[in-house]
Amino acid sequence: MGLVRFENVGLRYGSGPEVLHDIDLVLDPGSYHFLLGPSGAGKSSLLSLLYLARRPTRGMVSMFERDVTAAPRQSLPELRRRIGVVFQDYHLLDHLTAFDNVALPLRVAGVGAQRIRNDVRELLHWVGLGDKIDVEPPFMSGGEKQRVAVARAVIGQPDLLLADEPTGNLDEAMAERLMRLFEELNRMGTTLFIATHDTSLPRRFAHPVLRLDNGHLMADA
Ligand SMILES: Nc1ncnc2c1ncn2[C@@H]1O[C@H](COP(=O)(O)OP(=O)(O)OP(=O)(O)O)[C@@H](O)[C@H]1O
Ligand SMILES: [Mg+2]
Repeated sequence: MGLVRFENVGLRYGSGPEVLHDIDLVLDPGSYHFLLGPSGAGKSSLLSLLYLARRPTRGMVSMFERDVTAAPRQSLPELRRRIGVVFQDYHLLDHLTAFDNVALPLRVAGVGAQRIRNDVRELLHWVGLGDKIDVEPPFMSGGEKQRVAVARAVIGQPDLLLADEPTGNLDEAMAERLMRLFEELNRMGTTLFIATHDTSLPRRFAHPVLRLDNGHLMADA
């Protein structure tokens, strides 16, 4: 079993050196892990394999019980729809308002307009962006953009939530609020995988820690 399974996975960019080595990883449904590691260790690279933006250069990756290393490219979007991602650099659409950025996954899922309106507005209020609903990302602060990115990732209650340094630009109170949101999501069944440099997070929220060092993955004792 395992929602996610990596066996002996390696990744290199182009003809460069390998940046992930011999990664074995199993994420069970409903689990919650932190991924710690210094800058350049490979955290974002590992996440890019998890949200199917890249394929490994060796080894096997399966997600939702499908071998995605062999799966045809056109089968990936359907799997991606089950995954929410908070990118390290947000990846918001600059020409869309906060509302429309967050509404996107619900529209793709075919949710009705009235429910989209209610859910998106409620969540944006909840993350403290009630006054930014109709604002586009280029007119927002880094922390505001980060909150839009988190809202977009969680709005559809994905099966798997991947977050890359999701609280990096937030003040302590807002970081705490979003961490509570992640806890709640996990309680409702979402599998979480959160990459961070912030070693205080696993101290405050008791979830198992995986550590990346120079492309090698280890579980904390
Ligand atoms: N698109 C890319 N092309 C070539 N090399 C890359 C690319 N992205 C990352 N790398 C290299 O892969 C290694 C791991 O980078 P990665 O971004 O995964 O680290 P990280 O742990 O997320 O770091 P940070 O904490 O600074 O975000 C680094 O040596 C980096 O230079
Ligand atoms: Mg990174």
